[in-house]
Amino acid sequence: MNRENLNSEDFKDAVRLLRAGELVAFPTETVYGLGGDALDKTAAKRIYEAKGRPSDNPLIVHIANIDALKELAVEVPEEAYQLADAFWPGPLTMILKKSELVPKETTGGLSTVAIRMPSDEIARRLIVESGLYIAAPSANKSGRPSTTKAEHVIEDLDGCISMIIDGGSSDIGLESTIVDLTGSYPVILRPGYITKEMMNRCVAGTEYDPAVLKKEKSDPVIAKAPGMKYRHYAPKGELTIYEGDTELVIQAINAIAKEKVEQGYQVGILATEETKNRYQYGEIKSIGTRKQEETIAAHLFDCLREFDMSQAAYIFSESFENNSLGQAIMNRLLKAAGYHVISLNNKEK
Ligand code: TXA
Ligand code: MG
Repeated sequence: MNRENLNSEDFKDAVRLLRAGELVAFPTETVYGLGGDALDKTAAKRIYEAKGRPSDNPLIVHIANIDALKELAVEVPEEAYQLADAFWPGPLTMILKKSELVPKETTGGLSTVAIRMPSDEIARRLIVESGLYIAAPSANKSGRPSTTKAEHVIEDLDGCISMIIDGGSSDIGLESTIVDLTGSYPVILRPGYITKEMMNRCVAGTEYDPAVLKKEKSDPVIAKAPGMKYRHYAPKGELTIYEGDTELVIQAINAIAKEKVEQGYQVGILATEETKNRYQYGEIKSIGTRKQEETIAAHLFDCLREFDMSQAAYIFSESFENNSLGQAIMNRLLKAAGYHVISLNNKEK
């Protein structure tokens, strides 16, 4: 089913399946979600099974109406309403103390709950018409890049879930910003489209969790979002990020790509509109333009999955600015690369 026949019988089927505790993958403005009834323990267990996800990694509960906050959470601070006013519906997830209503199966055993109000029309209608709160992690197999097209969901989950709603390509392409509101000030656990600067214009004192700023595998910081500690977003090939002066990066990637191609390996290069013509070896993909980081965010997971399709054994990537949206892009890219970065000058370290 796709966006054009939203009124069809299929949409009713999706609603019926969700109400029966089954799983339906659906589009959101960030990435595709793997949805199930958030208040049904069995549906939550099915989600973990379908994804192959460790059961201590909690799910995000999707809502369509602000009144849901009072039902799902307790001791909701004023900041939650201020952030909701500014950014909901949209790509922001808030961590709050959970109410009795939310089963621990949904929250991975935690006493807090992650809540998001998506803006995507299909997502909103599914929640409204089912009358449910929909628990939905990203609709990928655990550890794989998140899904930004229905084809990606089919690749990972076909046969494991009841239905996939095709809503075309996700607008944003990276998962929501997660902010923890259970402490004395808001803490960003996962960077996303809503940046710290945007949040600080609305609630002062928002900070990053140290795990977000981590640049090396050995940094001894423990992620507060349980999911952020697992290997993530990984393509099948070995991904290495090259950072530093652009000319040095291009030279180094050309040299290593040449070497690997000559050894007979399939090689992928993650370049940009600005640099794509400067590479000579392997399969060269432009991820987007540096003049508009949104384009890079939107294509990152898709490019990683395309390299899997062409069975790239080695992938070499340029590096991106580590501020605003670039922070979210680099956070995902670093994880996908297992923090494997080659620094060509010492400016950034
Ligand atoms: O954009 C998104 O957020 C997408 C779409 C489908 O809404 N969903 C998504 O879900 O990215 P998932 O499950 O792939 O990532 C949720 C992250 C995990 O890292 C998880 O550990 C964290 O949120 N999380 C969920 N509940 C939490 C809680 N109570 N405390 C801390 N972190 C939590
Ligand atoms: Mg995920």
